[in-house]
Amino acid sequence: MASEKSKILVVGGTGFLGRHVVAASARLGHPTFALVRDPAPSDPAKAQLLQGFQESGVTLLKGDLYNHGSLVTAVKAADVVVSTLGALQLADQTRLIAAIKETGNVKRFFPSEFGLDVDRTGAVEPAKSIFARKAAIRRAVEASGVPYTYVVAGYFAGFALPSIGQALSRAPPTDKAVVLGDGDAKAVFVEEGDIATYTVLAADDPRAANKTIYIKPPANTLTHNELLALWEKKTGKAFERVYLPEDAVLKQIQESPIPLNIILAIAHAVYVRGEQTGFEIDPAKGVDATDLYPDVKYTTVDEYLNRFL
Ligand SMILES: NC(=O)c1ccc[n+]([C@@H]2O[C@H](COP(=O)([O-])OP(=O)(O)OC[C@H]3O[C@@H](n4cnc5c(N)ncnc54)[C@H](OP(=O)(O)O)[C@@H]3O)[C@@H](O)[C@H]2O)c1
Repeated sequence: MASEKSKILVVGGTGFLGRHVVAASARLGHPTFALVRDPAPSDPAKAQLLQGFQESGVTLLKGDLYNHGSLVTAVKAADVVVSTLGALQLADQTRLIAAIKETGNVKRFFPSEFGLDVDRTGAVEPAKSIFARKAAIRRAVEASGVPYTYVVAGYFAGFALPSIGQALSRAPPTDKAVVLGDGDAKAVFVEEGDIATYTVLAADDPRAANKTIYIKPPANTLTHNELLALWEKKTGKAFERVYLPEDAVLKQIQESPIPLNIILAIAHAVYVRGEQTGFEIDPAKGVDATDLYPDVKYTTVDEYLNRFL
């Protein structure tokens, strides 16, 4: 029997986020395709990932963003294309758009976004240039006439929560926690599997066509001060807060090497400028994912932090 669900191609499916999109697509019953550069990798972790994909019914298509023929073949297999390409490939998504235009069969394209709203950001360099690349891809998609959905997603939980929101650390605070700004701007933290679920649900949803979906689950929208207080409550240990004023944050961005300067510039936009919240969604251009899909049982920040106890 023919499936009623769209066929989804994920480009970048072996990446940090992409693997969750592939998994969610297969789990939600979509015929799922992953464009992979190497279908038989020597890296055991990657080989295991691809084996897992195949065991859940995913079709691997060998290809590369820089091989037009391989893109056209892969895109022809799909109704929906989700790009989860990483930072270095963002600008070259024009190649994917060209393949999608050429084949003419794609009903929805999701460019690689999954972060701040790049049309409203005031992030400083070097994040500014990265976001400008994402915005340029938005303009290219719109000019192509291919229906699109942009996913604005808050911080990946796996990226921001292991350090309890501290941009300058990879581990939870012990005696001191460093807070950028006053710690009172609301930020958003979303588990990657949940970002993937909302993305796949939007793929066949006309309400998300030519719109931005904003994933900002209410229970996961909290200030850095609130996040730290939650961790203190869970661990029963208090720690000192070290507040870095904005001018000190900006100085540190300028003095830090890559990738710390990028991480800090994004954290500045989130924690100091409050860019993940603090705006109303324009209903002509955007929709709230938790309004569209109230039945999704997303992982709350409270639950997520229990992983680190
Ligand atoms: N909101 C947040 O907190 C947050 C955090 C991180 C990232 N993001 C955003 O999420 C999106 C995905 O980022 P990510 O970190 O998940 O990416 P990533 O882990 O770097 O994954 C990149 C993917 O692209 C593939 N790829 C690289 N070069 C390719 C090529 N020439 N042809 C085909 N595939 C190629 C890689 O495949 P191989 O396995 O072959 O290398 C991999 O699957 C980005 O837009 C990023 O800005 C947001």
